[in-house]
Amino acid sequence: MALKYTDKTIDHFTKPRNLGTIEHADAEATEGSPACGDMVNYTLKINPDTLIIEDIKFRSYGCASNIATASIATEMVMGKHIDEVKNMGTTQAAAELGGLPPVKMHCSVLAINGIKAAIREYEKKIGRIIDEKRIITEKSLLNILKDVIHPKHGINLVDNGNILRIKIDGQDIFIVIGLEPDEEMFASNINEEVMEHLEAMKCSHEIMVKIESKTGNFI
Ligand code: FES
Repeated sequence: MALKYTDKTIDHFTKPRNLGTIEHADAEATEGSPACGDMVNYTLKINPDTLIIEDIKFRSYGCASNIATASIATEMVMGKHIDEVKNMGTTQAAAELGGLPPVKMHCSVLAINGIKAAIREYEKKIGRIIDEKRIITEKSLLNILKDVIHPKHGINLVDNGNILRIKIDGQDIFIVIGLEPDEEMFASNINEEVMEHLEAMKCSHEIMVKIESKTGNFI
């Protein structure tokens, strides 16, 4: 079945804005989507005095939604202070396009997080943040799981009520994900994406993810 895209999405896909690379950029990041393997690269010019994004360009190695969300994301952040961009929600690019099919919502996460990654690198470079060791807490795990979009509903797993339990026990992390019967066909896809997001933390913890049916059966 063909996916439904808004006119705005098609417009940004067929006529991407701010395409290319900035020479001698102040910040750069290339991010990949664990969900599909697509990638996006951003280069930014940032005013060192005002911390305003004065220019941004992107290159995409992905699908139509990857191109459209990255394109609109560049327009959304142009002229903004980096702190404002850091507070943007990961589904804002999709919202700005008038919505995306649920299975494509992760493209919006990639588009926004790619820019945030470039800003993070910039802040490290100028000494605004220190590359401290990430402390793993339930809250930080929930934040990571908020970047995993349910492919059926287009909502992140936390807000969709799929995270039943999180437990950190010394070096072990246990996560229990619950699926409704009509979500069970996405179990392996969700499991794979959760693991890829968690492994991206590059921590030394042992991560165990269990997926169970909300009706009480193991999947
Ligand atoms: Fe993965 Fe678009 S970025 S399908």
